[in-house]
Amino acid sequence: MNCFQIIKSVLDEAYSQISGNEEEKDSFIKAKLDELIENYKRLLDGIQIDYSNPITRFAYIYKYVTSHANLVYTIIEDSDELNRIFDQEKVNVACIGGGPGSDFLGILKYLMRNEKTPKVKFQLCDREKTWAESWSDVDDKVDPKFTISTSYLPLDVTDPLDWRSHTKYFQSDIFTMIYFMSELSSLRDDANEYFSNLFSAVKSNALFLFIDNNNPEFYDWFDELAKEHGLEIMESRETDMIVPFDENKSDLGEYYDKFSYPKLRANVAYRIGRKI
Ligand SMILES: C[S@@+](CC[C@H](N)C(=O)[O-])C[C@H]1O[C@@H](n2cnc3c(N)ncnc32)[C@H](O)[C@@H]1O
Repeated sequence: MNCFQIIKSVLDEAYSQISGNEEEKDSFIKAKLDELIENYKRLLDGIQIDYSNPITRFAYIYKYVTSHANLVYTIIEDSDELNRIFDQEKVNVACIGGGPGSDFLGILKYLMRNEKTPKVKFQLCDREKTWAESWSDVDDKVDPKFTISTSYLPLDVTDPLDWRSHTKYFQSDIFTMIYFMSELSSLRDDANEYFSNLFSAVKSNALFLFIDNNNPEFYDWFDELAKEHGLEIMESRETDMIVPFDENKSDLGEYYDKFSYPKLRANVAYRIGRKI
């Protein structure tokens, strides 16, 4: 399966977990898609999004995972520094706030497109435990020449009692933070200790890929942490990105006709950093 066929299979599972007949499910999903758009505009007001319900998970994967995976893929494709790391034999990736799978699927798409076959271990670090179910069997859906594995690390970055005992993933080669810090912006005082601890504990030469909404409230936070903890910023951009979907829409099957386009345009800020 390619990445979008994998997403379709995960969407099928999420769809089957929603109760009601097809018409009811579709109307719940459409309402949730509209609600998510509104909620993401209000993150700075302290809106917290609950991903535990299957309608939200379906809507998020359909509209945002598809898009964010393509953003991750496009940025890696254009970065020599990120390219090079996948020439290693083994790569460990920690996806912080990566439960929905976008970060990992973007990397997988890059590997598939470039026929690169390092052994990649993805750790999806996220507070929401229900995401784990979606990706637990993904290695069975991928051509066996791509030796990837995913494991789920449940942690809440606002709760030191929860995150402090987990340290192994600090040895990862890459840390992705895709649309994660914006989600925490109203909880910055509670989450900052987690990020400070992470940025100071990672190994030398570890890479960071940060992508988020193009708003200084979000990227200034990342930049401040980078400065404070010795991250060399190798690329720093604020830009509009168009997410190419034409090649993927048939892979999304009937959902593409029912729920219209996933997110197509993204006004993003992104950073590629390296721990000195
Ligand atoms: C907007 S999603 C981004 C997901 C993914 N990186 C992407 O780009 O599609 C934010 C993620 O952060 C997780 N999250 C929210 N608050 C969290 C917290 N306090 N600790 C850990 N994860 C959290 C959510 O469960 C969700 O999976």
